[in-house]
Amino acid sequence: MSTPELKAARDGPHVKSVGIIGAGLAGLITAHTLLQDGFADLEILTRDRAVGGVWMEDRVYTGLQVNNLHGEFSFSCFPMSPESRGGRLSGHDLKWYMRKFGEKYLEGKFRFNTEVLNVRRDSSGEGWRVQVRDAVSGLSETLRYARIVLCTGGCSNPRIPDALSPAAAQAAHFHGPVMHSRDFKHHIEELVPSRKSLESVSDDETGQIVVVGGGRSAQDISAYLANRGRKVTMVFRTADAFLATAKPLPKCIRKSRFVSAFSPHSELNTGLERFLHTTWLGSKIVNSFWKHMTEQSFKALKIPADSPLRRAHSPYWSVTKDEGVPDPVRFHAVVNAGKIDLVAPARVERFGTDGQSVVLADGRVLQADAVVLATGYVSSWLSIFDEETREELGLNRHPLSEGAAKCRWDYKSLRNPPSAYFEGEQADALIIRGLVPAKNILRRDFAINGAVITNFNTLTCEVSAHWISSYFLGDQMRIPASVDEAVAQAERNAAWMRRRYPDMLQYLNESYSSSAAFWTWPQWNDDLLADMGLKTRRSGGNCLTWPFKVVRLNEIANLKDERDAKRRSERDLLPRQCV
Ligand SMILES: Cc1cc2nc3c(=O)[nH]c(=O)nc-3n(C[C@H](O)[C@H](O)[C@H](O)COP(=O)(O)OP(=O)(O)OC[C@H]3O[C@@H](n4cnc5c(N)ncnc54)[C@H](O)[C@@H]3O)c2cc1C
Ligand SMILES: NC(=O)c1ccc[n+]([C@@H]2O[C@H](COP(=O)([O-])OP(=O)(O)OC[C@H]3O[C@@H](n4cnc5c(N)ncnc54)[C@H](OP(=O)(O)O)[C@@H]3O)[C@@H](O)[C@H]2O)c1
Repeated sequence: MSTPELKAARDGPHVKSVGIIGAGLAGLITAHTLLQDGFADLEILTRDRAVGGVWMEDRVYTGLQVNNLHGEFSFSCFPMSPESRGGRLSGHDLKWYMRKFGEKYLEGKFRFNTEVLNVRRDSSGEGWRVQVRDAVSGLSETLRYARIVLCTGGCSNPRIPDALSPAAAQAAHFHGPVMHSRDFKHHIEELVPSRKSLESVSDDETGQIVVVGGGRSAQDISAYLANRGRKVTMVFRTADAFLATAKPLPKCIRKSRFVSAFSPHSELNTGLERFLHTTWLGSKIVNSFWKHMTEQSFKALKIPADSPLRRAHSPYWSVTKDEGVPDPVRFHAVVNAGKIDLVAPARVERFGTDGQSVVLADGRVLQADAVVLATGYVSSWLSIFDEETREELGLNRHPLSEGAAKCRWDYKSLRNPPSAYFEGEQADALIIRGLVPAKNILRRDFAINGAVITNFNTLTCEVSAHWISSYFLGDQMRIPASVDEAVAQAERNAAWMRRRYPDMLQYLNESYSSSAAFWTWPQWNDDLLADMGLKTRRSGGNCLTWPFKVVRLNEIANLKDERDAKRRSERDLLPRQCV
């Protein structure tokens, strides 16, 4: 930390170290970026035994695919194109990528098997105390860092309804295995013995697996099991939204800003977006576009009009996965082939008293010899902060002020939203850009990466990592100048989230939805770049062609140099201004 650029950081708290909690993609790119910026005294803590988080070797099973419309899932310094991997990235590709990235750029920086139990501000008021437990020895200790970056992800802590927990199964004398989808890989042998032994037993002996949930995990796991000869029943209320096409979409649509223009952002920065979202004609075009995409998707995957899979979230209003072109081993095709029974709308309520069934909320009983709970995830944040720290940082749910609740965004394209189905329980975390808790904005010692849902995670996490590094370095940035201003900005964003995603934010947890810019990831990135005073809309083009220009990772490959140059030029200006 000897370069002049780091003066601001050096003038900060008494220790200059950074603790990054989490070794998934957000933790990896944050660590790499901070190291490049001179934060050499840095540690990455993970409770896992290896890098990767969701894409760690213990969690990835055959058949997992990356389902972003853009298709890319790598960082600019170490590209991995889907084209070089047969057109689509698999879970195994990402497992490889995360491991390689760790080896190549972050060797010696990890503390594996280290569960973070508690994070709180040091009693001196400077820096953070992190209480950890070693998963192997069971020993606890307290670590100290000047700064913390929270990268614990939104899909790390399983949501297990009490009445469906392994303990409840035991109490009901349920005779088969019960597991959460997070641990599916560990249980594969139990559910799908080797092919030879599976072939040697009859259907009655292999029994029925009930998969609970309608999200991607439920769909992927159901397809995996059915493709290996198991009888599967999937129980859900609403299935995930998806897009599919009979033929691959051209790059100028799939990899450009085209689709993002059809999704409103909180600020409409181009004439095309203002036309599409604020005029009567534009909103008609937007509605027709999404209606067409939805219908085409059902048609491409041959989903009958009366199929329960038509009970799906809307791609316009929620997180949506790209199914690409039809594939006989993927979920929808396997359902069409009659290999997965669907029970919907329904919810599984408890285990039956006979030890071999589950009972639905409407009283129906389903035979079950094993249960996979693909019931989603809870926040990875709340268990590691005590009430005082949560309050200090503003991570608790927060009722919107009257002023914020009045923000309307009278976009014509946002008429007729879906209903919010757990009224009043929306998480309104007050987090600036999804990166810094509003109440802590002036301290420049705590940030979050990976909590903003976008459709191009690696790109948004990389730009976010630069934003965080600039913020820690004390660079001149467009950020609120006071806590009150920060709270007002965060409240406005929370109000926008309610308006834009009234349905989605209720089934996502706080650590996965501190903000969302699902289709609008290009606009989101532009906001972060503008905060740093850097060039926006980097894919180029003129007023007619820009929506079709392919967004490439190398557009952000030199962000460090750009930030350094800007800092230098601002420093050069200073003395002249003073004279
Ligand atoms: C099966 C699955 C498939 C997915 N597929 C896609 C996809 O195709 N496209 C897409 O965009 N998104 C997908 N996602 C969403 C996925 O969560 C993100 O894409 C991304 O991988 C999240 O990265 P992350 O670094 O934020 O979190 P994670 O990868 O979850 O990493 C979290 C890290 O934090 C650590 N951690 C958490 N709590 C603690 C603690 N208390 N102490 C110590 N360490 C802790 C974990 O050990 C881990 O290292 C998928 C999610 C799942 C579950
Ligand atoms: N290959 C991929 O791209 C992939 C694979 C897996 C996961 N992911 C991503 O990871 C994240 C988490 O996905 P996920 O599928 O694990 O979780 P999820 O999207 O949160 O889905 C959980 C599902 O469980 C249902 N559920 C909960 N309790 C239930 C009950 N008692 N009975 C019936 N249904 C119940 C929920 O229904 P209600 O909404 O009705 O409560 C919901 O459908 C998502 O962002 C997802 O896109 C991606």
